[in-house]
Amino acid sequence: MPRDLANPDLYTSEARFAMWQEYLQADAKVWSDPGLSPSGFWSVFSHRDVSSVLSPKAPFTSEHGMMIGFDAEHPDASGGRMLVVSEGDWHATLKRLIGPFLSRLRAPELQSVLHREVRDVIDRLRSEDSTDIAVSVGPRLPAAIVCEVIGVPLSEREHLIDLTNHAFGGEESSFDRMTPAEAHTEILFYFHELIERRRRQPGSDLVSALLEDGRLSVDDVLVNCDNVLIGGNETTRHSITGAFHAFQAFPGTLDALHDEPDLAKPAVEEVVRWTSPAAHVLRVATADCEVGGQEILKGQPVVAWLSAANRDERLFPDPHRFLPNRAPNRHLGFGNGPHHCLGAALARLELHVLLRELATEARGVQLAGDMRWMRSNLVQGYSGLEVTMDWR
Ligand code: HEM
Repeated sequence: MPRDLANPDLYTSEARFAMWQEYLQADAKVWSDPGLSPSGFWSVFSHRDVSSVLSPKAPFTSEHGMMIGFDAEHPDASGGRMLVVSEGDWHATLKRLIGPFLSRLRAPELQSVLHREVRDVIDRLRSEDSTDIAVSVGPRLPAAIVCEVIGVPLSEREHLIDLTNHAFGGEESSFDRMTPAEAHTEILFYFHELIERRRRQPGSDLVSALLEDGRLSVDDVLVNCDNVLIGGNETTRHSITGAFHAFQAFPGTLDALHDEPDLAKPAVEEVVRWTSPAAHVLRVATADCEVGGQEILKGQPVVAWLSAANRDERLFPDPHRFLPNRAPNRHLGFGNGPHHCLGAALARLELHVLLRELATEARGVQLAGDMRWMRSNLVQGYSGLEVTMDWR
């Protein structure tokens, strides 16, 4: 019985890495029959195959959906409206509008928010005997940055951060007796209300800029704020948690970063490669084509497993090892091609500030309880990582 790669139970342990090695060694292309994902899908794993699906010239679209669960009968309702599931001129328009709010140019303004959040995180770690990084640390920085970008007033941030934590904290999280889906709906209600306020009183934030442009309906503004919210939170939190996991699994890494602060830059890339929080992206073929020798028919979905490609030893010798100075490091953690992560500069900045400040104060990380993977085929991440810190 072939594996159904949509099955989230496959991704609740380290066994996934052995599975990727098996497929990478066989240079496999795997068809998963319709089941948990209604239309079925092809999977590709190697760095070469994943890159070729994501290449700007490849005959693939995101417009019908970009993750497992794709259903040809019921394509993504945000298709053609939300940045990550748009193509062509509208995608370019949205990128031009949203890009400046996520670019490196914003770094100077965001640095102070980041330094404050990292300081709070370190104070918290210092004050507790042990801390669940996945719950109390990973989510903080990304949620604060997204609030800053979208323009959530300071007094409302804690509430939104709590809701965000819950909406993206995995099926086990609980907050105010809401399910994660209900928490996400609550966030959308909040955005709706924020949009109304910004319409009356514009500011210098993303919501105001999207409204002022005049081409987006209120619903378009809403789905694109949601895109930034999901893109910024669901991934970065696991890279941050995964950085602690790497420091625990590879003792000496924090000392290396402490002794050679310039290592932080390549180490950030290695965190993104090693953690690969966006496990896959999906595309639908717009013409009959071929990927790595496998014929793909027009209309068929193809899943590009970024998390597997980032462990492809043809590109990354000793792929399971966390090497802070790995070079070259042409990872695909942020995707590739037209939809390459628009928040990559911000994610890098968050990780850079965290790594620099953590290495200044901490020498090591010890496991103090279970490490639990999230049960998800989309997000390669953690639902629990209880640790104690060794301080300098
Ligand atoms: C797109 C990963 C952080 C916003 C993407 C894509 C990936 C990705 C793989 C491509 C999706 C596709 O090809 O269909 C990551 C990872 C992050 C991260 C691993 C952290 C380590 C962020 C942050 C933000 C963000 C911090 C914003 C605050 C976006 C947006 C897109 C995107 C708006 C859509 C771009 C487009 O379709 O043109 N991200 N992301 N991401 N990401 Fe990120």
